[in-house]
Amino acid sequence: MDAITEAVRAMYSAFPYPAGTPTLRQATDARLLLSYGERGRPAGRALTVLDAGCGRGVGLIGAAVLQPDVDFLGIDLCGPALQHARAEVERRGLANVRLAEVDLMTLAGLDVPPGGFDVVLSSGVVHHLADPEVGLRRLANVLAPHGVLSLMVYGRRGRESLYRLVRAIDAIAPRELPLEERLRVGRALVAGVESEPLVHGPWSDQRTIHDVEFVDRYLNVHETSYDVPGLFALCERAGLEFLRWAEPADWDAESLVPAGPLRERIARLPAARRFALVDELAWRPSLELVLARPGNAPRAPLDASARDDEPLAWNPEALLRIERRNLRDRERVESLALQVRRREPLKFENGPLAHALLALEHQREAFRLGDFVRALGESKVGPPMTRGAARAAALELLRLEALYRPHLADL
Ligand SMILES: C[S@@+](CC[C@H](N)C(=O)[O-])C[C@H]1O[C@@H](n2cnc3c(N)ncnc32)[C@H](O)[C@@H]1O
Repeated sequence: MDAITEAVRAMYSAFPYPAGTPTLRQATDARLLLSYGERGRPAGRALTVLDAGCGRGVGLIGAAVLQPDVDFLGIDLCGPALQHARAEVERRGLANVRLAEVDLMTLAGLDVPPGGFDVVLSSGVVHHLADPEVGLRRLANVLAPHGVLSLMVYGRRGRESLYRLVRAIDAIAPRELPLEERLRVGRALVAGVESEPLVHGPWSDQRTIHDVEFVDRYLNVHETSYDVPGLFALCERAGLEFLRWAEPADWDAESLVPAGPLRERIARLPAARRFALVDELAWRPSLELVLARPGNAPRAPLDASARDDEPLAWNPEALLRIERRNLRDRERVESLALQVRRREPLKFENGPLAHALLALEHQREAFRLGDFVRALGESKVGPPMTRGAARAAALELLRLEALYRPHLADL
């Protein structure tokens, strides 16, 4: 093992990430991630997901709890973090999670399913590797041809104010000193100094965070970060293609400026330059994107020519909030809101989209576009909709990401 990887292992073994009793992260859905690529997978075998650098398993276990029919493998370099994860897997009686100590720089000993993993997750890890390009290429190589890789790395622009504190601590307590001493100095610095750069940007909680978080952020023994062009270049060198941002709304440059000539000018820029512009104008401390192997590509959106047998499903990253009032003889819907991930909730009042959303309230299974259109035509929730209005509502709910399009093999 190289010296950098050894140092990273020692640091995370002393401070396994994350701290305390972590809340599970619950956003990752394998079928949803696969739906972002145009290539479907061969039917007939269980979906396999690799969490590369799973730490204590908050993302891994959060995803595994909600997808009992998907096989998860979590790997990490840090034995103590894996022990925590293992204990939690046992406590919850999860039969679909395995854990293994594997170094991402080599992937030696990794149990790769025939044909590769359907999904690889890696959140907050690749930027700590001795050579991120080598590690990322290895992950690309164990991905199935139709597979997708969900990657989060640190954003250099969004972490600028954080790196000022890193440099300030380095100046007072150089990196050669023991980590515990650097931690004491760093803590004393943030407790005693009212420094303007420290409270600007998304990093004003330095005083209250746990030591584990403090070490991970400010005392990390090895970390790089990326601006958007640098990240895209890294992905290309690792043999990966961009499918989308995890949250496309965060990368919509046009939404940052008022309507008018300036927005029109921005709209004419190539996508990569629009993303780089957002990186300059907004705080984006994490760059989270979905990648695929060459030969896969972003799925084209459905349009009015969509076939009636097109499969649709409720997006597991979307939440429908319905408030009802009990009247004497009936219930009345008081408010209806759709929240997709951390976006601002969208409110709907009477109208085709509100009716379409209400019709989906108890929809758990995937369904066909034609069946949905028929159901809206016979709806008792609102006035029956014409075929054209119902199809338009379904396409709009897809655009808003209330719905997604699972591949046939994933139904
Ligand atoms: C900031 S933590 C993120 C953990 C987890 N992905 C999460 O989001 O909670 C980084 C993790 O990467 C792991 N790691 C760093 N270098 C690694 C390597 N070369 N091989 C495997 N895991 C590594 C560390 O042990 C640590 O658990």
